[in-house]
Amino acid sequence: MSEINSADLMALCKRRGFIWPSFELYGGVAGMYDYGPLGCSLRNNIVEVWRSIYKGREGFVEIDSDTVNPREVFKASGHVDEFADLITYCKECQAPFRADHMVKDFYDNPDILSPKQLEEAFVKHNIRCPECGGELGPVDEFNLMFRTNIGPGSARVGYLRPETAQGIFVNFPNLYRYNREKLPLGVIQTGRSYRNEIAPRQGMIRLREFNQMEVELFVDPEDKDWSRFEEIQDETIRLVPNTTGELVEMTVKEAVDKGIIANRVLAYFVNTTKQLLLRLGVDPQRLRFRQHLDDEMAHYAADCWDAEVLLSYGWTEITGIADRGCWDLSRHAQFSGTELTHFKKFDEPREVEVTKVRAKHKALGPLYKGKAKDIAAAIESLVPGDVKDGKISLEIDGEVKEFGEEFFEVVTVKEKVAGERVVPHVIEPSHGLDRIFYSVLEHAYEYDAEKDYTVLHLAPIVAPIKVGVFPLMEKDGLDDVARSIYEGIHTHRVEAYYDGSGTIGKRYARMDEVGTPWCITVDYDTLENGTVTIRDRDTTEQKRIPKDEAARIVDELLSGKPFAEL
Ligand code: GLY
Repeated sequence: MSEINSADLMALCKRRGFIWPSFELYGGVAGMYDYGPLGCSLRNNIVEVWRSIYKGREGFVEIDSDTVNPREVFKASGHVDEFADLITYCKECQAPFRADHMVKDFYDNPDILSPKQLEEAFVKHNIRCPECGGELGPVDEFNLMFRTNIGPGSARVGYLRPETAQGIFVNFPNLYRYNREKLPLGVIQTGRSYRNEIAPRQGMIRLREFNQMEVELFVDPEDKDWSRFEEIQDETIRLVPNTTGELVEMTVKEAVDKGIIANRVLAYFVNTTKQLLLRLGVDPQRLRFRQHLDDEMAHYAADCWDAEVLLSYGWTEITGIADRGCWDLSRHAQFSGTELTHFKKFDEPREVEVTKVRAKHKALGPLYKGKAKDIAAAIESLVPGDVKDGKISLEIDGEVKEFGEEFFEVVTVKEKVAGERVVPHVIEPSHGLDRIFYSVLEHAYEYDAEKDYTVLHLAPIVAPIKVGVFPLMEKDGLDDVARSIYEGIHTHRVEAYYDGSGTIGKRYARMDEVGTPWCITVDYDTLENGTVTIRDRDTTEQKRIPKDEAARIVDELLSGKPFAEL
């Protein structure tokens, strides 16, 4: 493997139209990139593979929710209070810095240091402003959400969503109904999210506006299994558990049996993530799953594994697979005042002891006459916790009235119940689409310095162009044949690229550089015997195939037929 220089790859991406720094015309904005034509195709192909796994194989449903959300959503989710990085400003030039990044050379996990510890570290290690050498100021929290107003004025505060996940959680009642009130309920969403990073670095790895592919699976908290677990239990995964910090390779079953991954459903989706990333072209030797340390876990997570890939930047998280427990639905229930539960039916009705508030009808009747029935119903809708110092309060005709124990009693009775209401737990594989996009490019990138030649060994399923079609010369009817092959391939809904200019070597080089797996050339033999050459990018091997079969053969190659078997 040649040493990869991310600057060379980013230059290629810019030159060939994969990604462009946003607003370059106006000097650019850090942490923002636009996708060019080839980038859009590559990104869409990645999304399609992800979609086909979740919607196709696992039966999940897809939604598309708003990116601007009212404050209440993120107050409930914890983002308003918790979603912050620590910031410091230079006292001289006022440049802002992420405080933990300033001390990274001195600590293994600087992100767990408190503001006070960071300030002490600046003094102890004489850390000064990297821009001007000035003294660093106090460390404060900086919330990463972009704040806005919904509608005119500032009465309704909103935020750009920092994760697509919340759009799924706040739609739980609709989704649950759609799923005919059954669990498990799997939902996917892809789209933009926004984080106002203090100092974005590392190209596409830390963006202020980024793309996610998120999966939220609502499960019965007492049944964290997955029906297809046995199909994959013997597959191997590379894990770095937080107990040892060492890489171990084991089967998915072993990881669950040894208690390394908390449950079968979480393990199943760790493995699904592995399958997805390998299918997209991530190098298996540069992929591992690292368990979060307890103090690294997000505020909502009960257990979390990061899919990390080895990039020129070092090991980098591209997906997080978290068991979010009941955090999200409990919080949205609490803040919205709406019950967000699943009715779990017992196999057989069960007799249970229930403590409830019961109205004393005989005492209410003579005193409240026609209203007694409604008051009794209101009393019986209360729970024992509503009784304070032997009294309950009810609003009657706009007036709050207190009732003493002569009007109600707290009783424990046996009742037959068909089931119980439980708050579903959430398992979440959350994919950073831009990071996956960049990882796929880096793992595909090969530069031969001697020949000054670049090949992107992209998996055909994600390659933005599947086949280049060239006439040897743009004359003698070769171009007409090439164009009709090109059009034939397009009618099979396969992305092809017609190129008639420059030497054939140059045209191959242009296609190799953007990862096109195959090239078809129409030459003078085509006019004689109706065959064309087809060239394989990775081996540069060429074969002759009938020109009229070209579209079908490309389909076969895309379905996985080896080039050697043509
Ligand atoms: N939903 C998890 C994340 O965005 O990090």
